[in-house]
Amino acid sequence: MADPLTTDPVTDLTRALERLGLAEFLAGFDDDVPDRRRWAAGVGGLDGVLRTTAGFLLLGEPADLDALPAAVAAAVPELVACALAQEQGGRAQLADVALFRSQGLWLLAEPPSPFPVRHYFGADSVALARRGTYRPGDRVLDLCSGPGFQGLLAAQRGASATLVELLPEVSAAARLNARLNGLAGRTEVRTGDLYASLDAGAGPYDRVIANVPFLPTVSPPGREAPHEGGADGFSVGRRVLDGLPAHLAEGGAAFLTALLLESDGELLSAGELRARSAADGYGLTITLTDRMALDADSDLVQTVVSDHLDTDPQADPAALAAEVTGAFARRGARAARLAYLRADRGMADFRIIEPART
Ligand SMILES: C[S@@+](CC[C@H](N)C(=O)[O-])C[C@H]1O[C@@H](n2cnc3c(N)ncnc32)[C@H](O)[C@@H]1O
Repeated sequence: MADPLTTDPVTDLTRALERLGLAEFLAGFDDDVPDRRRWAAGVGGLDGVLRTTAGFLLLGEPADLDALPAAVAAAVPELVACALAQEQGGRAQLADVALFRSQGLWLLAEPPSPFPVRHYFGADSVALARRGTYRPGDRVLDLCSGPGFQGLLAAQRGASATLVELLPEVSAAARLNARLNGLAGRTEVRTGDLYASLDAGAGPYDRVIANVPFLPTVSPPGREAPHEGGADGFSVGRRVLDGLPAHLAEGGAAFLTALLLESDGELLSAGELRARSAADGYGLTITLTDRMALDADSDLVQTVVSDHLDTDPQADPAALAAEVTGAFARRGARAARLAYLRADRGMADFRIIEPART
């Protein structure tokens, strides 16, 4: 029996793409690290309408609407309405985003970039998602949802998910991504600041998941951009932890990304995190992964500098690098670690796991 079409051209789009062979094409790539350059090489081997569609949706190539499959052309006005595409004179092009497919979920998001992006999806998104287990009926809260990867994955596994995103244009993209996956009925996307965007008494949630912004910043407290994580990179993460006692169900778990500063192999925030978890009634498991240098030429410091130059182009890059490294040094930090935090309500353990690198 043929799959019935829905009345939503966005939901019907992905069904058509799967029939066209686009999911088969994407299945040949490692989806842990979305990599558009590898797609570009693969698209070279396609032809016909699959080639045109892949160029349009994966590589950001312009296309004539009448050269695209009818289901793709029918969805273009919806993408334009969310500022994810432009269309003029029957010719359309995606705006910044590409169509990704990871763990069976379709997602319009921006390809990873060394520069800040608005519709974020990166290797840390996939690494965080791999840590969660969702069961049908779970109530899930995805804070800092971006275009929706975490919450939509939970909904696809049968959970009912509330997604919260600060930027209205990004929460509109998350709603569109929910429709793309036929999940609009099981998701609610709210625009606002973390828990403050929820109705009074909302929850409790079986799972809270937050891929928080963690780029350290030289912006004054309270004036950080949405992709910045405050002076030590953990200010949004702290606010997520603060809300767990009021929002995490008994037996529930929360999953966060974090950038944690380190001195001589010790986490500077270990004492603070241990005290918080004991006071707030959850066990904490911190898994440490990549170690990042903090000298003036390091990738992390140079990213902080170029991020600041975006808003303050007159600033002197060398002086900024000195300010950033000085701020880290005053805290006693010698390196930063990309970390994943798991908080279990009703447990008391505090663990730091550092898997040996293979
Ligand atoms: C690193 S992206 C995470 C995207 C997505 N959750 C993922 O895992 O791929 C962080 C997102 O958090 C949003 N954000 C930053 N501060 C926020 C806040 N206080 N409340 C809600 N969202 C916030 C940013 O706009 C950005 O879209």
